[in-house]
Amino acid sequence: MDLVVEGNLYLKGEIIKGCVGIEDGKIKAVKKILKGDEKLDFGEKLIMPAGVDAHVHFRDPGFTYKEDFSTGSMSAAFGGISCVLDMPNTKPKVNTANVFKEKLGIAKGKSYVDFGLYADGNSDEIENLGKICTGFKIYSYEMDDNLLEKKLNEIEKTGKTVAVHGEDKNFFREMKTSNLSDYLHSRPNEAEEKMIQKIVSMNKKNVHICHISAKESINILKNNGVTSEVTPHHLLLNIDSDLGPKGKVNPPLRTEKDNEALWDALRNGTIDIVASDHAPHTLEEKQEFDDASPGVPGVETTLPIMMYFTKNEKISLSRVVNAVCEKPSEIFGLNKGKIKEGSDADLIVFDLKNEKKISANMLHSKCGWTPFENFHGVFPVCTIIRGEIVVENNEIMVNPGFGKFAGEKYA
Ligand code: DOR
Ligand code: ZN
Ligand code: ZN
Repeated sequence: MDLVVEGNLYLKGEIIKGCVGIEDGKIKAVKKILKGDEKLDFGEKLIMPAGVDAHVHFRDPGFTYKEDFSTGSMSAAFGGISCVLDMPNTKPKVNTANVFKEKLGIAKGKSYVDFGLYADGNSDEIENLGKICTGFKIYSYEMDDNLLEKKLNEIEKTGKTVAVHGEDKNFFREMKTSNLSDYLHSRPNEAEEKMIQKIVSMNKKNVHICHISAKESINILKNNGVTSEVTPHHLLLNIDSDLGPKGKVNPPLRTEKDNEALWDALRNGTIDIVASDHAPHTLEEKQEFDDASPGVPGVETTLPIMMYFTKNEKISLSRVVNAVCEKPSEIFGLNKGKIKEGSDADLIVFDLKNEKKISANMLHSKCGWTPFENFHGVFPVCTIIRGEIVVENNEIMVNPGFGKFAGEKYA
């Protein structure tokens, strides 16, 4: 073995003292005792698969004053995320193969973590894009029903997963908004419920519904062949949170009742995964409510916050590992998120006793703020990607460009 990592391993729902043997960046063996050229002994600390964040906006190219692929991916690495899937609403929009290839070059040059890239589903080049992209993204509020169904059909033929932002603009209310409660009124629960219903009724394969936020959406998700996602902000924040324009996000923050329904759905597996929808904007863009840009950052805090909630048993560790590591990898065909032979050797190490109060100045996003100020988190003490230490002792250990494109479906 090139490297052996030893400690308390999370393996199929149990924590077992053991060793992970790594060769050529892949997990070669998992055993009680293993010999290697190099050994990392983490003692009593917890070793689990690194997270995969299936929903980030790193703003590169086009909006790099908010974030770029290096700051975004550094933030991911410190949060225990070994692979991010980046959304196509960069500038220019990723709706042609040429734009896709340009963005791929930028990400390859700058990323600290592995990454996949979405292509915009509202494109005339779906067949070509389907050969190279990790998945497609559909902004359902941009399309009428005919176009939506046509594009979903074309995407289905590519075999790639399509992530859908589910809100029906026919249910939006045109109004001036000056607080979170107004904003919720302008984009009511019904807008999400009705769009998800419509998409589910189209019966397409490989549909993944992003950021479920309304309690009414949950019943529609049961046994219907789509996968779904929830964000930490929709689980933990609501219109009573003291965030003002910073808390403006699409879909909107809703009520405590919605929060609790989402926690239940995540715990019982009706909602499959947790993703951050990391959508950084500068503080300048988050001042006056009606003009504020919608979106909140989160790639670095998602897994630490979820790990904190395993400590007070709000959610089980096995559900967190499934929702943040295993299942996102499965949905998007990545060889990650599992401690098993043949998987990419992406591991994170936790000292569960070492919880921190989150504050913006400890985070690495360019935007410089977090909606989770003063929340608790357990941050990894080490992040390993393909057998290389990427973060250790709060320091980044690789160069930008270490991250590789992970978009190919593995055989
Ligand atoms: O709040 C949001 N921000 N929702 C989206 O769908 C897009 C995102 C962004 O890119 O800022
Ligand atoms: Zn969205
Ligand atoms: Zn998004």
